[in-house]
Amino acid sequence: MKEYKIEEQEPHAVMEQLISYISANKVQRSIKPIYKTAETALYNDDCLEIMSRLPDNCVDMIFADPPYNLSNGGITCQAGKMVSVDKGKWDRSNGFEQDVAFHEKWISESRRILKPDGTIWISGTNHSIYQCGFLLQRLNFHILNDISWFKPNAAPNLARTTFAHSHETLLWAKKDKKAKHIFNYEKMKNGVFKEDKMKMPNKQMRSVWSIPTPSPDEKTFGKHPTQKPLALLKRIVLSSTNENCLILDPFNGGGTTGIAAKIIGNRRYIGIDVEKEYIDLTINRLRKFHDQNIFKPVE
Ligand SMILES: C[S@@+](CC[C@H](N)C(=O)[O-])C[C@H]1O[C@@H](n2cnc3c(N)ncnc32)[C@H](O)[C@@H]1O
Repeated sequence: MKEYKIEEQEPHAVMEQLISYISANKVQRSIKPIYKTAETALYNDDCLEIMSRLPDNCVDMIFADPPYNLSNGGITCQAGKMVSVDKGKWDRSNGFEQDVAFHEKWISESRRILKPDGTIWISGTNHSIYQCGFLLQRLNFHILNDISWFKPNAAPNLARTTFAHSHETLLWAKKDKKAKHIFNYEKMKNGVFKEDKMKMPNKQMRSVWSIPTPSPDEKTFGKHPTQKPLALLKRIVLSSTNENCLILDPFNGGGTTGIAAKIIGNRRYIGIDVEKEYIDLTINRLRKFHDQNIFKPVE
């Protein structure tokens, strides 16, 4: 594989070069993004295929919200009604060993394509997060934080046999303990986070974040069953990336990471999802924000 030097390139040239790597590298079939602008590329494909085509050390930050493997026919409560917990075919478990083997593959690829000072975020519930945390450690990542995302409006537990599930865990890690990762400390300490009743003004940002699940206006174009709130991804992008950083989301879903990157501004984004309907949803969301001129830098 050719030596890849991202620092010497103009940001737009970098995006073009990466798209051509994905399209042509190890060619058995050429892969083109389904949506492409100077700063954004969306792929409807398996993340392992697209990631394998990227050069070493090219990504600044990865946000990954992988399958939870919890879609097993259970029930939950939504708006007072009993509904299935099944998220879709993509969320079915293939058995413990195979689920872990899949996580190991994409986390290993993440390590290869992350820059030496890059960081990875992994979001999950108890179904998946311990497997991913174990693998991060086994693959020699250094865990920076485990964030507890508390959902103040979480659904009640219908069965009344356990505590009501009301948080997800986000692991934040870097490739090496000595790496100089980005952390925008002041922006986290002094920023305005109206959605978060636990964040005290001008006090350090702590590792428990109180953020409601996405509001209806984040679901105007249809919804992804596990769509993350924009406030959560804006905080992640703002805290751990700077201008011109390249962000990759291998499990794009409804594109929340890419939209957060556009709202924060001056970031580049590659999103991948196996389901075409979710890439279409992302394109519609991106166009809506673009039409409403919401993409103004907020820093
Ligand atoms: C938990 S959801 C991500 C939700 C997203 N964070 C959002 O805010 O909308 C996981 C996504 O990964 C996709 N997916 C599952 N397996 C995949 C794979 N091997 N490659 C690419 N995408 C995959 C699913 O289609 C699903 O949309």
